[in-house]
Amino acid sequence: MAKILIINGPNINMLGIREKEIYGANTYQDLLNLISDYAKNKNIEVEFFQSNHEGALVDKIQEAYFKKIDGIVINPAAYTHTSIAILDALKATKIPTVEVHISNVIDREEFRKISYIRTYCVKSIIGEGFNGYLHAIDELLKILK
Ligand code: DQA
Repeated sequence: MAKILIINGPNINMLGIREKEIYGANTYQDLLNLISDYAKNKNIEVEFFQSNHEGALVDKIQEAYFKKIDGIVINPAAYTHTSIAILDALKATKIPTVEVHISNVIDREEFRKISYIRTYCVKSIIGEGFNGYLHAIDELLKILK
């Protein structure tokens, strides 16, 4: 059974409260329920992690190497646009990774167009809302099979 780690960065725990016009009214727990149901249907194991701290995200990515995680879906949120440490951690693990953004980062401020992890990721899924995470799982399963 494939083991997939779903990592979310800062403020993703505030879904349903933060900027609803951009991220929608559904909560972080709604997102976890959606992904859990999908994983059950696909017969895969998912683990969730959310942190507002860059170092904690790096620690979790490193841990994924030692736990032999098969694939990572990551929304580093604001750290997408700033964090070389997250890019380096992903490179260290060599675990296939798909980047997800709920909003369409390309149509927003200039600084959101930069993604440090994009060069490493097998795919970047942007602007598909919560369904982007399901799409990301499908992309990983294509590679893992
Ligand atoms: C985000 C987009 C980022 O620019 C922003 O900082 C986020 C969420 C998204 O999912 O659309 O926090 O990654």
